[in-house]
Amino acid sequence: MRVSVVGLGYLGAVHAASMASLGHEVVGVDVDAARVESLALGKSPFFEPGFDELLARAVGAGRLSVSADVAAVAGARVHFVCVGTPQAAGSGAADLSFVEAAVSSLVPHLAVGDVVVGKSTVPVGTATGLAARVEAVGATLVWNPEFLREGFAVADTLHPDRIVYGVPEGEVGRRAAALVDEVYATPLAEGTPQVVTDYATAELVKVAANSFLATKISFINAMAELCEVAGGDVTRLADAIGHDQRIGRRFLNAGLGFGGGCLPKDIRAFMARADELGAGEAVAFLGEVDAINTRRRARMVELAVEVLGGDVAGARVAVLGAAFKPDSDDVRDSPALDVAARLDGLGAHVVVHDPQAIDNARRKEPSLAYERDLEAALTGADVVLVLTEWRHYRDLDPARAAGLVARPQVLDGRGALDRDAWQAAGWTYRALGRP
Ligand code: UDX
Repeated sequence: MRVSVVGLGYLGAVHAASMASLGHEVVGVDVDAARVESLALGKSPFFEPGFDELLARAVGAGRLSVSADVAAVAGARVHFVCVGTPQAAGSGAADLSFVEAAVSSLVPHLAVGDVVVGKSTVPVGTATGLAARVEAVGATLVWNPEFLREGFAVADTLHPDRIVYGVPEGEVGRRAAALVDEVYATPLAEGTPQVVTDYATAELVKVAANSFLATKISFINAMAELCEVAGGDVTRLADAIGHDQRIGRRFLNAGLGFGGGCLPKDIRAFMARADELGAGEAVAFLGEVDAINTRRRARMVELAVEVLGGDVAGARVAVLGAAFKPDSDDVRDSPALDVAARLDGLGAHVVVHDPQAIDNARRKEPSLAYERDLEAALTGADVVLVLTEWRHYRDLDPARAAGLVARPQVLDGRGALDRDAWQAAGWTYRALGRP
């Protein structure tokens, strides 16, 4: 089927190439001319494992074309809206201007019977407003939230763990759902669970899922705070409670907490929207979830100051990791980069290493020093902070690393290292939530 994708960021670009790999004829549209140019050449504008190959194949096979002109969507029957909904300046609410602009630009090019599929994360109630504009030209809106994780974006798009549609009532909704089913025929045939519901529920599913995940992470980080004062080990605690299948061990990794372009802003936007609906109390706990999360960053800085003897001024601090998570070059709300910047603010000489995110990090925090060579980053360090759990850091040889640094002191912000091995190699090992 011919489909269009409006917005070619992490979500849209991966979605467009994935839909092409399923056999559809895809046209992608973005207002960013540089991004369009790069994608048209089959070159990814960001790092995402497996995406380069998928994109090159899709463009090479002629199944994916990209354009900066929204008129290119004409002729497609299903139009995916994949633009961002960042946190609004000066408030916790979502900035919907990109979604509004995308739908406004699409409407003049829609044909009767087309389906517009919203994938962006939006405050509950948004779809109903957009649906009226789409229906005015004889098309139908389906809300189909996206659950992809960066680092696993391709696999999550091609093999999602569920497919959710919010549709209008009656035959119109059924027909629209059937058309989107054709686009997702392959994952549906694989047995992917499907939930078809109303707009409000579909919108809420996304923020509820991200709120639950954020809460799970902050729960274990709250336990880490307790472990720190009581002398417990949060890693063993997580292992033990995780054996209870009702709890589960996944997303119970204590450490520097969550960042990125989704979890932090989604919980804030959820609180803002709940307030508007007069139900702020129902999700007030998310304020605590957010507070626990940011306290971890402050605690990491405290720990660095402590091991440096109370004064960081002039100390050389090697920060390993700038991306908000491994296998990504995304530094949006990155806990690692935040800690690096705070230590820089205290007068430390911070040297940041990351396998993929240095260019993005430099744009955001230009005053920090960056080093692409891991051993050079470690050389002469008074303390090493592991703040993103890249494989490169897990695989470090602690004995070799000890020979490079000025003082063998390591702070493991992600529970990434083998504590015994590092201690055996002569390192002073400190971690959040562990003795
Ligand atoms: C998230 C959701 O997982 C995804 O379903 C949604 O579509 C978008 O938002 P993503 O932002 O890619 O995906 O990252 P995720 O893997 O959820 O990790 C978020 C943050 O939590 C990262 O900073 C990660 O380091 C942190 N995290 C994750 C922990 O601190 N502990 C954990 O146990 C898991």
